[in-house]
Amino acid sequence: MQTKIYQNIDTAGLAECGELLRQGQIVAFPTETVYGLGASALCDTAVAAIFAAKNRPSDNPLIAHISDLSMLPMVAKEVSDAAMRLFEIFSPGPLTVILPKADGISPLVTAGGQTVAVRMPAHPIANALIAAAGVPIVAPSANLSGKPSPTDFATTLEDLNGKVPAVIDGGPCSVGVESTVVLPMGDTLRILRPGAVTADMLEAAGFKVEIDPNILAPLDDKKPVLSPGMKHRHYAPKAPLTILKGEKEAVLNFLRQKQLEGAGILCFEGELTGENVFTFGTEKDAASQMRHLFASLRKFDKTNVREIYARCPGTEGVGLAVYNRLLRAAEFHTLEVTK
Ligand code: TXA
Ligand code: MG
Repeated sequence: MQTKIYQNIDTAGLAECGELLRQGQIVAFPTETVYGLGASALCDTAVAAIFAAKNRPSDNPLIAHISDLSMLPMVAKEVSDAAMRLFEIFSPGPLTVILPKADGISPLVTAGGQTVAVRMPAHPIANALIAAAGVPIVAPSANLSGKPSPTDFATTLEDLNGKVPAVIDGGPCSVGVESTVVLPMGDTLRILRPGAVTADMLEAAGFKVEIDPNILAPLDDKKPVLSPGMKHRHYAPKAPLTILKGEKEAVLNFLRQKQLEGAGILCFEGELTGENVFTFGTEKDAASQMRHLFASLRKFDKTNVREIYARCPGTEGVGLAVYNRLLRAAEFHTLEVTK
């Protein structure tokens, strides 16, 4: 298949891509979080094609994206007052809310479940594209299943060239990790996936917030999984990755030794340099870590390293989203370094 590339997309290009989506074709596009692989949420064959293009397990449901709150009835059967308040405060933006699904939504979108994940992205191209399509658009991250999500155009094209009809260039993503996913449960919000909308921000807006235990620990086989995405291996480079905990100087010494032994090193800017050393932002700035983590994880796949060691980010604020993605890339493998 020939993939059509849209750079500096204009109204005519958006109308073309909107028409492709309405016809049940796939279009990859930028959002403020990561690039998404879009298809009409109302079209079974289009949704099935998304699962096939990504090689995504069919039990992992998709997020339906809208461009305006007036599209909510197309995706959700009912929107509680709490959910509506969430949309009013945080949309458009990097927040996804789980709602009871509308009848018209393809069962493939929800993996057969009765709930649907809904988000209104803030990126102007994403928003204009959904508006041009006039239908809700499901969009998983545009990576092949298991790989880190793409946060720029070149990476998106690398995974999808020849596999989808159209890819839109929107430059680098300003956030860099996927949206926060929340499940409203009575008067509490359960965070199923941490992102740029943090627990503190939700609490400041008057919500009671719970962090799902699966964000910081591997799944317990005996407990039900609220977010099926957590069951699957995710964000991982090819070589096994270990997160190092402990006092900074001890960790840096350990990393220097591992670098000499030929391992890949993931650290903060200004710490180590040299072959197979990649950085993810600065130590004190979690937002910069969030923007750079996925691109750096992918860089290791272009090297011959057989193991990777990473500095551990903090877990405050948006740091939790960074730590969660890194933990999953490491398959929860951490090591405490003592002198
Ligand atoms: O930022 C984002 O959310 C990006 C951009 C493209 O918008 N999209 C994204 O989609 O990250 P995806 O498919 O890679 O991740 C969707 C997550 C998965 O962890 C999935 O399990 C969860 O949302 N999810 C979807 N529907 C759900 C539902 N009904 N209940 C619980 N979790 C759900
Ligand atoms: Mg994904």
